[in-house]
Amino acid sequence: MGMIGGGIGAFIGDAHRRASRICNDYELVGGVFDPDFERNKKFAASEGIDPKRCYETVDALIKGEKALPPERRIEVVAIVTPNAFHYPFAKSLLNAGFHLVCEKPMTMTVDEALDLEKSVAEKKLTFALTHTYTGYPMVRQMREIISKGLLGTIQRIDAQYYQGWINSIIHGTESRITGVWRLDPKQAGVSSCMGDIGVHAFNLIEYTTGLEVKEILSDLSSVKDDVKLDLDGTVMLRFGGYLKGVIRASQVCGGEENGITIAVYGSKASLKWAQENPNYLYMLSDSEPTRVFKPAHGYNGKLAETGHTMPAGHPEGIYEALANIYRGAARSIRGEAYDKAEFPTVHDGVRGMKFIHAVVESNRMGNIWMKI
Ligand SMILES: NC(=O)c1ccc[n+]([C@@H]2O[C@H](COP(=O)([O-])OP(=O)(O)OC[C@H]3O[C@@H](n4cnc5c(N)ncnc54)[C@H](O)[C@@H]3O)[C@@H](O)[C@H]2O)c1
Repeated sequence: MGMIGGGIGAFIGDAHRRASRICNDYELVGGVFDPDFERNKKFAASEGIDPKRCYETVDALIKGEKALPPERRIEVVAIVTPNAFHYPFAKSLLNAGFHLVCEKPMTMTVDEALDLEKSVAEKKLTFALTHTYTGYPMVRQMREIISKGLLGTIQRIDAQYYQGWINSIIHGTESRITGVWRLDPKQAGVSSCMGDIGVHAFNLIEYTTGLEVKEILSDLSSVKDDVKLDLDGTVMLRFGGYLKGVIRASQVCGGEENGITIAVYGSKASLKWAQENPNYLYMLSDSEPTRVFKPAHGYNGKLAETGHTMPAGHPEGIYEALANIYRGAARSIRGEAYDKAEFPTVHDGVRGMKFIHAVVESNRMGNIWMKI
């Protein structure tokens, strides 16, 4: 595996390295970890990477790796930079024949997303998009329960993603450097809150239910005049027919940590899951006491069980969830059989970009319904 981004002090690159090691299918052998070459080299040395494979640019990585015999060459590259770099790097790496693990949001524009989808199809390469929450066993179990029709007709879907960390930054009570690129349109794109976290909630809805959101109407807030992008918002959802839903997302709900939750309400029963308590999936109904599903039990489906390695009662968390996505991608790269729900794909990336752009446009146009 190679990695682009994820150098000194980076957040998610570190999680990707841990996850790839947990699933035991990858070895990090090279990369461009930082745009500053001195910091890049320092980081590569700390990881024990051959200095010859610490490259100054993505083009240099492609050239250097292509010069190696195929059995030594990087097979898959993880892109864990800020959003603006995902598309150009992914495009070059796909053209050069590398499989990809890429962070969300996949690109800056819908056209770029469609272009990547075309490249992946043409090149027949694996592209795993790390919507990390789809790697949790109980999220996978939720998908399984819903696909069997056990909820009856779905009548209402609520997803929420509340964080508070940007609150102290915009009000000047905390100064930090990492992560604040999310407030810069040049690096983040058209949205902060909906692009960074609302899109996870959107993906979780489509992943667990297998349904497509057809139309959205959004109401966003940047909270302060000097903030350029949305930091908070509500999105109403239509799925066709009677089914409606809502996504609420915020980066300024002070005190909230990483509160992504989903509830799917059906005519017979309902499911509720919250990432801060990820090993418990609650099934509710009016006719029975609440049931609790947990990982590593025979009553779960195969997809959920492939996502848990320890016996019951040993909690697994975010690193293991990400490792499950890496494991699915490894199966695909090797040409082994795998369930298509083992990792989100470039198509999920297209859906996410359509969602983000429609949400921003709906708000800009005065809160109108938009098709996605
Ligand atoms: N899946 C998830 O749950 C999840 C969680 C956090 C972040 N993310 C996504 O991961 C990406 C990175 O976010 P982060 O919070 O880790 O950011 P970060 O700022 O902590 O890290 C970004 C890293 O990329 C490096 N970088 C920047 N430009 C580069 C370039 N041109 N070439 C090489 N390296 C470059 C930086 O030096 C840094 O090491 C974003 O797209 C974000 O949306 C996803």
